[in-house]
Amino acid sequence: MWKKLALLSLSLWVLSVAFIGYRFVFGNAHEVDKRMQISLAPEERELVLGEMRLLLKGVKGIINGLSQDDFKVVEASASGVGMAMAQDVNPALMAKLPMTFKKMGMGVHQSFDDLAVKVPSLNQKQILTEVDRIMTTCVACHETFKIVESK
Ligand code: HEC
Repeated sequence: MWKKLALLSLSLWVLSVAFIGYRFVFGNAHEVDKRMQISLAPEERELVLGEMRLLLKGVKGIINGLSQDDFKVVEASASGVGMAMAQDVNPALMAKLPMTFKKMGMGVHQSFDDLAVKVPSLNQKQILTEVDRIMTTCVACHETFKIVESK
């Protein structure tokens, strides 16, 4: 009886270790393969990634403003990554980006504009809640797409 139980728990243990090992090796790779790949010319890719780095800078600016109780900095950082930033993207590049990508991208810029307008009427916690909500789209888009250079 005890021998059987011991064997059973041992095999369960082996199974779970194997399962975790499998997930560890293949789990993430599988996720990466699930992203949709967008091919862009090197300079287009650089333009999009440059915009991404500005978005990150914008988020940092908002956090910096909040940490110093300087809502002017929060406002300027949010509007700095608003719709105005996306306007100079050329039509040829726009045509290469999938609809959902553009929707999520524009959504993020619009949300930062909306936030900039609302900043004076919000407290720190409400601003953080807004930033958290906006960043759900950053995360969702990063999980869905990757950008490669077209040959
Ligand atoms: C519309 C889709 C989309 C949205 C929205 C988005 N990103 Fe990205 N971002 C991407 C893609 C695609 C990449 C490239 C990933 C890859 O090729 O592996 C990227 C890359 C980046 C990078 C790396 C840049 C580099 O130089 O390699 C940063 C930083 C970044 N994003 C920040 C942000 C932040 C912060 C937000 C939200 C405020 C955001 N992104 C919103 C799609 C998006």
